[in-house]
Amino acid sequence: MIMMNCDIKDINLADQGKNQIEWAFKDMPVLKRIQERFIKEQPFKGLKLSACVHVTKETAALCVVMKAGGANGILVASNPLSTQDDVAAALVKHYGIPVFGFAGESVEQYKAHVQEALKHEPDIIIDDGCDIVSMLHAQFPQAAKKVIGSTEETTTGITRLAAMEKEGTLMFPAVGVNSSMTKHLYDNRYGTGQSSMDGILRAANILIAGKTVVISGYGWCGKGCAMRAKALGANVIVCEIDPLKALEAAMEGYRVMPIAQAAKEGDIFLAVTGNKHVVDVAHLLEMKDGVFVANAGHFDWEVNVGGLRAHTTEIKQIRPSLEEYKLKSGKSVYVLAEGRLVNLVAAEGHPASVMDMSFANQALGMEFLVKNRGKLENRLYTLPAEVDEEIAALKLKSMGIEIDTLTQAQREYLNSWDV
Ligand code: ADE
Repeated sequence: MIMMNCDIKDINLADQGKNQIEWAFKDMPVLKRIQERFIKEQPFKGLKLSACVHVTKETAALCVVMKAGGANGILVASNPLSTQDDVAAALVKHYGIPVFGFAGESVEQYKAHVQEALKHEPDIIIDDGCDIVSMLHAQFPQAAKKVIGSTEETTTGITRLAAMEKEGTLMFPAVGVNSSMTKHLYDNRYGTGQSSMDGILRAANILIAGKTVVISGYGWCGKGCAMRAKALGANVIVCEIDPLKALEAAMEGYRVMPIAQAAKEGDIFLAVTGNKHVVDVAHLLEMKDGVFVANAGHFDWEVNVGGLRAHTTEIKQIRPSLEEYKLKSGKSVYVLAEGRLVNLVAAEGHPASVMDMSFANQALGMEFLVKNRGKLENRLYTLPAEVDEEIAALKLKSMGIEIDTLTQAQREYLNSWDV
């Protein structure tokens, strides 16, 4: 009998979810090392944690580690479609961590769940997209006063926090986890690259080889997606607004052009910009018959799926995470995962091995905020470079990879100028 306030799909999935969490943990050696230390040092003893992150087996591992460090935490889903219901059940039944979220919840239910995170009156916050932090500031500024700090997982969330910092409205310090090298260079590039292709393949099971894949956005996520699409045999087109990134894409061998032009050429479209309507209605209407459209950015407005509805005669569910929009023009557009994060909705998100580093940064970011309580300003922080180096060194060790060290003579050479 579960005596815990929570809102999940089915507690009977708990044993299956426990297997999943244990499976993820096997590939998270860095997080495990941190857990061992947290058990001894109890950095979060007596602190209430609200985490608003995708409810996955990897996130579950992070929550278990935070609890091992003394945190009294709850987890709410950061997206209405991405929750792994078995994992949610296992967290409640086997790990004693309340979860609010289930796959397929309505936007209203999703918002009500985020409210639970606020009602928990957190001392520390783990956020993914800045939803708890922004709601707390807007609706409960009084409660925000006691918050020691928050960590933020995504580029999108950091953009929102930076806007709050600039405005002078941010009420506590925040660590931008995505700014750590051991987060964005690996999670955004190799994680999003692989999991987005995984999502497209699970949703549609189409052959990528020979197709024209249009990637909107050539940040670290876009780079990863372009690289993996190319590796599967696609002809890749990149759309960008930043001349430096566009140049980088061109020199990598991709065709670079505006989306209005790419719209006519692409077979598969993937948006990863963090912005709104980058694939807009006018582009969608210009596309060839039978194209596939997906998003791997945090919010579901990168592809203007809502706007497309007005031009649609019928929406037919073909398979899980695949809908056919039959247009008035007679053409069809296949929308993946309702325009929400294709990698987390149609697949399982990034694999544990890469989330190991992202969530090591989350755990250490939390520790940084608590250790420096009262000493930090209400602004965005990046974890010190030594933390990145330590996480990378631990990861390499776990992979059985050794690297060279500088000799004394080389160190002296690097510190001299009169060679
Ligand atoms: N974002 C991308 N992949 C993820 C995962 N496996 N867990 C949580 N958040 C994610």
